[in-house]
Amino acid sequence: MIDRKRGPLKGHITVPGDKSISHRAVMFGALAEGTTEVTNFLQGADCLSTIRCFNQLGIEIDNRASSDRVIIRGKGLHGLSKPKDILDVGNSGTTMRLISGILSGQDFTVSLTGDESIQRRPMGRIMTPLQMMGADIKSVKENNCAPLFINNSLDKLKGIHYNSPVASAQIKSCVLLAGLYAEGNTSVTEPTLSRNHTELMLTQFGATITSVANTATIVPNPKLMARKIEVPGDISSAAYFIAAGLIVPNSELIIKNVGINPTRDGIIQVCRQMGAHISLENVLDNGGEPVADIVVRYSELLGTEVGGAIIPTLIDEIPIIAILACFAKGQTIIKDAAELKVKESNRIDVMVENLTKMGADITATPDGMIINGGKPLLGATIESKSDHRIAMSFAIASLLAEGDTVIQDAECVDISYPNFYNDLKGLC
Ligand code: S3P
Repeated sequence: MIDRKRGPLKGHITVPGDKSISHRAVMFGALAEGTTEVTNFLQGADCLSTIRCFNQLGIEIDNRASSDRVIIRGKGLHGLSKPKDILDVGNSGTTMRLISGILSGQDFTVSLTGDESIQRRPMGRIMTPLQMMGADIKSVKENNCAPLFINNSLDKLKGIHYNSPVASAQIKSCVLLAGLYAEGNTSVTEPTLSRNHTELMLTQFGATITSVANTATIVPNPKLMARKIEVPGDISSAAYFIAAGLIVPNSELIIKNVGINPTRDGIIQVCRQMGAHISLENVLDNGGEPVADIVVRYSELLGTEVGGAIIPTLIDEIPIIAILACFAKGQTIIKDAAELKVKESNRIDVMVENLTKMGADITATPDGMIINGGKPLLGATIESKSDHRIAMSFAIASLLAEGDTVIQDAECVDISYPNFYNDLKGLC
């Protein structure tokens, strides 16, 4: 239950490091030569799964939970060793999909699995392009889901041009990472551009990657060199405080040092479309990743339409956008977002079921949802389905709901934001 006063949210807050960038820093640091130092690393369960997997692959990583500094002693592109046990990615789709690309280029066999949620999520989407490159990757239960088994032979992967049916940074990154080990260049074209952290960071490590419109191309066998990486604050975590600042009357918040990469900033565009008072201060470049302080003030929001090319830039923020829509005047339509069904939970169904319990006017559609805003929300028992983004979204909704809200499996926020409830309490 969120312990709250009814007053405005005031002051400033720093959210933890970006999850996507933290994962990549460990992976690319492991494949680089030399020692990579990462600061503002996200000590969330997903990124710790990535560290554990690379430990099992023979990479020494210094990480203390009390610090956000991680040191990775990279062994170069061909320095990984065969793990003794099956790799366990926990709840992390990013770990599973990106590491599969890397592991397809090794000369040892390896098995991977994860928790119940991971074992339900689609892996055919990476197996298809990896098989086209010549990888021998199988779903052990033949259901296109984890556990996966990669049976590497001495045959080299072949570079391909993959037309991905889905705009997904996880698919794109998986194929580009396999492309590091291929003969010939590897390209991925996606229907609309997804987050480009892999392209930006691998370039920083010394890889040659060109990006033209929705196509990224990688040249194989670079010598990756260790780097210092300072991880920006995660805009996906900032989104909960952006929303809280906008809907709780008289609030004014500054969220400091947040990554605002244009492939991730859809939440800011949508808030503006809804009439939000939101502005950016102290914009600067952090190793190719733009960062800024985000300033939000309580606003009377209007319903809006969210769909098309913006969707991949806010895919993880749709649950909190649905909450914003409940407090907006008029109708909000979210479409082209069928990918929500294959996230940590089916986020269309879970949002609709829980918001309906709270009294919202919301309907599921095959690729999104329709929300008629303005109905007061009532406290309810929320089934988070152990999905961190669902739990955090309803913690924000509960700030304005009449009566108590109980979030089941509330501790699942550990996946991306272990200190979320304390940080929120600090502002309420
Ligand atoms: C991620 C990409 C997104 C996102 C996930 C993190 C990444 O998934 O939902 O939380 O780090 O590449 P898709 O690329 O599959 O949409």
